[in-house]
Amino acid sequence: MSRVAYVNGQYVPHGEAVIHVEDRGYQFADGIYEVCEVKDGRMTDVPGHLDRLERSAKELSMGLPMGRKAMEVVMEEVRQKNRVQNGMIYMQVTRGVSPRNHLFPSIDTPPAIVMTAKSVSVEQNIKKAENGVRVTTVPDNRWERVDIKTVSLLPNVLAKQAAHDAGAYEAWFIDNDGFVTEGSSTNAWIVTKEDILVTRQATPGILKGITRATALKTAEHLQIKVEERKFTVEEAISAKEAFITAATTVVIPVTHIDGEKVGDGKPGSMTRRIRENFHEMAG
Ligand code: PDD
Repeated sequence: MSRVAYVNGQYVPHGEAVIHVEDRGYQFADGIYEVCEVKDGRMTDVPGHLDRLERSAKELSMGLPMGRKAMEVVMEEVRQKNRVQNGMIYMQVTRGVSPRNHLFPSIDTPPAIVMTAKSVSVEQNIKKAENGVRVTTVPDNRWERVDIKTVSLLPNVLAKQAAHDAGAYEAWFIDNDGFVTEGSSTNAWIVTKEDILVTRQATPGILKGITRATALKTAEHLQIKVEERKFTVEEAISAKEAFITAATTVVIPVTHIDGEKVGDGKPGSMTRRIRENFHEMAG
């Protein structure tokens, strides 16, 4: 089935979609992005994703190429043109095209924008939710502003590949004091033996996940007790349950951390409840 990409105001066949060699995203990773889930033909949590995109742009003194309403229209058009019922919308904005120079380009340089849509296998997601996934750990060697969703993802790429090479699905970053920060492309959660849901507070140190926010809302709705605080790898391994959240897969149980079983090594019931109620609470 033919795919279509949106590139700087035009829809082009996916295979022919190109950006300039001096796009600052390409040369400096000077760009920001969002990934938005599509479920049953509807985009999940669009306001949250666009709020965060605007925040990322502001933090980097970067302009956005179009207003919010236009952005929503293009997202939906990209979804429709690609006939995505279940999958994701990817959008990326960079500081634009300009002769290579570390300094910002002149203010009349328009930001560059790309949007794509991709279908994902619902069956594979269900399989992950039913079987759970394994996680490995790596030192968190990223810069301090991981709260900004930039395309500068090399440490994340290396961590995800290291996890994959070790037979795991995700890598959890560990800070200098032994606390879990987050996954390479997900937020990290545990459920204590006392049935308290724990996830790291969203101060700089993690990306404030949009899925994380909706999962917190879901927990509140289900009257689950929540603590937003740091937890160590040891606490996670001895927890009752663990899981990860991201727009790509929503809520996925973690069964093993560094080869050690979490709880009984099977997906937990609280994780399942949050997953099952998630879309009811999403925006
Ligand atoms: N990643 N932490 C990191 C480092 C992430 O890259 C992501 C998302 C999350 C979860 O955020 P959200 O719930 O808003 O998706 C946390 C996207 C999906 C990606 O890079 O593909």
